[in-house]
Amino acid sequence: MSKTGTGVKSLVSQSFIPHSRPTLDEEEEKAVRAVIKSGLVAYGDKVAEFEAALAKHVVARGAACVNSGTTAIQLLLEARGIRGKEVAMPSYCCPAPAYAVLRSGNTPRFVDCDEYGNLSPESLAPLIRKNTAAVIAVHNNGTPARLREIKKLCSEEGLFLIEDCAQAIGAEYDGKRVGAFGDASVFSFYATKIICTGEGGAVASNDEELVERVRETRSCDWKRADAMRKGSFSVRESDVLKANYKMTDLQAAMGIEQLKKLGSFIAARRRLAGEYAAGFAELEKKGIVELPREPADAKSVFHHYVLHLTGKKSAESVVAKLLRGGVGASVLFPAIHELAFFKKFVLPGQRFEKTERLTRASVSLPLYPSLSDDEFERVVEAVSNAFE
Ligand SMILES: Cc1ncc(COP(=O)(O)O)c(C=O)c1O
Repeated sequence: MSKTGTGVKSLVSQSFIPHSRPTLDEEEEKAVRAVIKSGLVAYGDKVAEFEAALAKHVVARGAACVNSGTTAIQLLLEARGIRGKEVAMPSYCCPAPAYAVLRSGNTPRFVDCDEYGNLSPESLAPLIRKNTAAVIAVHNNGTPARLREIKKLCSEEGLFLIEDCAQAIGAEYDGKRVGAFGDASVFSFYATKIICTGEGGAVASNDEELVERVRETRSCDWKRADAMRKGSFSVRESDVLKANYKMTDLQAAMGIEQLKKLGSFIAARRRLAGEYAAGFAELEKKGIVELPREPADAKSVFHHYVLHLTGKKSAESVVAKLLRGGVGASVLFPAIHELAFFKKFVLPGQRFEKTERLTRASVSLPLYPSLSDDEFERVVEAVSNAFE
């Protein structure tokens, strides 16, 4: 068994160390096999079971699974009736939430980040206008955003607060798991995420009606698969503009097993982050990099381990060198406001100093429970060599 990982065998080739790798084992295989054997491979009881487990994890009254995290954001905004409004979100982020905001008929309002790479409440406050309706607080890299201040602002201004937990399931803020602070939260179970179902996402909230509206939208013809199982195809009257955004039982079966292992996954990620910190201490002492830090009131799940370069080298050149050496490194994240497609949503004179600094200086390294001791050593060595 790996010293750092959970002992899970990887099905992926060992020569190149991927930037991310799902941790899947016999339990997931058995669960998926059972669904295949049942013959009921589409959306059904397993999705409902996964939703119940997720709601329990988040400590929310309900959860609705969909086919991706992006869809979860889109359907949540639609279910809440937010349309033709501005939705604030960090610019330093995966662009998926920005697309979901646009798909739901809204405009993204990009906000600069704080020192942890999360939405800065100080930058958010002056951007709130009459047409602002919601805020997406993304917990980037598995580290919780400053929820206390963001929530206070949202309450004062009457804004709908969405916690984007796509990268942070199981992370803690003020001793409580993320996902229970906002009006609703969204999750992603994409292959690179902390727990995965291949593709998949979910909405969780204490507002059961809202969750039910997400369920209503995700399916064109029936609310639950039971009807289909009994052979009856029943279309019910509905005033909702529907689509097919369902998760399948094959995915949910994986998700149920993954969620059971979340505690051990997080422990392995945190242990690895600690070992990386020891491994890169010298580089930090020399002023070449800054290591990721946790805010005092939060516990990160280290979805990514991101080095911030403080020396002369650019993140792109270091990543290129690591890739040539067989280490799957990545520059995370883009500054969304700089992407050609999104430039038109930037207000005149808007500044993104921290976002622009981070996006040019971030190098994300492989970190996941199945990273072997040998791979870990290779990453540490490759990073040290990249600065020689
Ligand atoms: C912060 C954030 N939100 C939303 C998403 C979208 O999730 P999905 O890939 O499941 O659509 C991602 C995916 O990378 C993400 O990182």
